[in-house]
Amino acid sequence: MIKALRGMKDIIEDKRFLKIFDTAREIAQNYGYEYIETPILEETALFKRSVGESSDIVNKEMYQFIDKGGNDVCLRPEGTAGVVRSFIEHKFDRQQTPKRFWYFGPMFRYERPQKGRLREFHQFGIESFGEASVYEDINVIAMAADIFDALGIDYILKINSLGCPTCMPKYRDKLVEFLNEHKNNLCEDCQRRISQNPIRTLDCKVESCQAILKDAPKITDNLCENCQSDFEKLKKGLENLGIEYEVDKNLVRGLDYYTKTTFEFVSNEIGAQSAIAGGGRYDRLVEFLGGKPTPGVGFAIGVERILDLVKAEDKRSGIYMGAMIEEAIPFIQKKAKELRNQEKVFVETKPKSLKAHLKAADKGNFKKAMIVGEDELKKGEFFEKEL
Ligand code: HAM
Repeated sequence: MIKALRGMKDIIEDKRFLKIFDTAREIAQNYGYEYIETPILEETALFKRSVGESSDIVNKEMYQFIDKGGNDVCLRPEGTAGVVRSFIEHKFDRQQTPKRFWYFGPMFRYERPQKGRLREFHQFGIESFGEASVYEDINVIAMAADIFDALGIDYILKINSLGCPTCMPKYRDKLVEFLNEHKNNLCEDCQRRISQNPIRTLDCKVESCQAILKDAPKITDNLCENCQSDFEKLKKGLENLGIEYEVDKNLVRGLDYYTKTTFEFVSNEIGAQSAIAGGGRYDRLVEFLGGKPTPGVGFAIGVERILDLVKAEDKRSGIYMGAMIEEAIPFIQKKAKELRNQEKVFVETKPKSLKAHLKAADKGNFKKAMIVGEDELKKGEFFEKEL
């Protein structure tokens, strides 16, 4: 028997999945965001340049192959890069007005599957272009918080700032100096990171590295005046909206395109893979991918991570229609067509006894059954029962 690939799952009739999609979409639209759908397959170079050559995603986790035309392509591991590519390709970077998009779809990362970590998973994401103000970061974080609130999900919000081209390089030098002093006691990965991506040492999971890095210089203590002031505004702005947060000085994120604000929403109820959403500002990415310099900020929610935290509504809904004799089927099909303008109507096409129909309607969680037998058909009526 052929089965779905490891780390990939069928989503069958999952009301919670649709509830997440409907809730997130409605909230994003209420914030003024438009829908965007970009291809699942993109040129590999797009992710190498944006997510970063030294990131785990690009290094180890891409579904990458050469297609029949000899193009180096891969299944998207995340949504931001494709949206930025599209933003530039459609010349939105040349317009001076902000543009805001939401998207929902599958992402692919060749990771070691475990609870909450899949090889195909779904993200609901948003990207806001053209607004450099930190108040936009607050809006974006507030939207994610609204989505979790609407879904009844408890979260811890962690925030950090990664600085800008003025303060980050100076900080990086300081960090590298510190790391070199402790090089021999760092894990192999961190030793490699010193030259490739020193910032990523900060969230190393190895205990001995954590013990050393506890004393490492922190970016939030080394921000330039502008980044420092924005970080203060960010904290005040969240407080103003009643959104609780924790500053996590080691929150560097696994993608290389971030500047200034980074954030993650974490849940205590889902085990080790606790990040339910992540995001931040990426003011240099549009330019880096060949567009006109345009600031950007966004986030993505991991749908499978929150699936178990969402309660499916089990309310009865819709109408069940059934015929007791074959001749009555065209009659109910016509009536169903009419009623479907207002609500969900299911037509059972197999004639059955009244009792069998009522049982099926009850099992199917319908709120009403409308059944036609020989007598009803003659009178052009239905036998109706509320369930
Ligand atoms: P990310 O943190 O890599 O960010 O992914 C966002 C969320 O996707 C994570 O918080 C997690 O919930 C979920 N996720 C990631 N990997 C897996 C996996 N293997 N299995 C299940 N769920 C997973 C991004 O992807 C950025 N593009 C977010 C962003 C948008 N930043 C700015 N705009």
